[in-house]
Amino acid sequence: MKTFISPIELTKTLLSIKSEKKTIGFVPTMGSLHEGHLELVKKAKQQNDVVIISVFVNPLQFGAGEDYNEYPRSIERDRSLAEQAGVDLFFEPTEDLMYPEKLNTSIVVESGTNVLCGKSRPGHFDGVATVVMKLFQIVQPDRSYFGLKDAQQVAVIKNMVKDFHMPVSIVACDIVREADGLALSSRNIRLSENERYQAPALYKALQYGAELLSKSCRSPEDISRMVYSHVSERIEAKIDYIDILSFPALSRSINEEDDIILAGAVHFKKARLIDNILVPAEIRQKRKLGI
Ligand code: PAF
Repeated sequence: MKTFISPIELTKTLLSIKSEKKTIGFVPTMGSLHEGHLELVKKAKQQNDVVIISVFVNPLQFGAGEDYNEYPRSIERDRSLAEQAGVDLFFEPTEDLMYPEKLNTSIVVESGTNVLCGKSRPGHFDGVATVVMKLFQIVQPDRSYFGLKDAQQVAVIKNMVKDFHMPVSIVACDIVREADGLALSSRNIRLSENERYQAPALYKALQYGAELLSKSCRSPEDISRMVYSHVSERIEAKIDYIDILSFPALSRSINEEDDIILAGAVHFKKARLIDNILVPAEIRQKRKLGI
């Protein structure tokens, strides 16, 4: 595995790889790698000739008072996990190289951010979209891999790629979970023992809501309220949101043919956790017809 810090050096290497007609699969991350990231790498290896991973904790996507300074960092461990997973190129730029001066141009996400994490983290998705745009310019991948735990991020990035006619396919990959259902996240290590014990209740509550949604027996508002109570009775954390929207449009007006996302976010003392379940329209229709 070759390691790069400089964007220019990396672009030069990638251009020569591309000139050999090899395809490039790209996994952008903020490091502190876990099995979820490694699944993205696995998928990228299946579908491309060369796989590159980036590790960069992007200051632009953290608001004032958020956990930028405390965000877990473990670059040496990340390098070794990436190498073991068969990554070809490892990109770990410094903040000075990514943002040598105040940006003259940045991406403002115009839709899909007035709900879920976008609502509670204003400017977050502008920061995500801007860094992903920069990374895509540096790497120029054929395909890029994102986990569906950050489903709103997937929707935002897909829209950006469409809006700017970017020649990259966005591959959304399933959430990877611990045996007790907790979605893998770099922030999980910031949970206390008791919080770690409680945390899977978020997923259990979402499962309960998804079951009600697929039976179409209650309104989304009722189901959101029921899931909210379920979480608040089992987790001593501040609930940021529990919401039900169409996916990927992230709209509150849901038609029969829409896929639905049931998503939740909770703030434990030192970690904000998010999770979601996608309920495809097909499942709701089949249940309704008793199939
Ligand atoms: O999902 C993440 O880890 C980050 O939001 C990303 C896509 C690497 C951008 O910083």
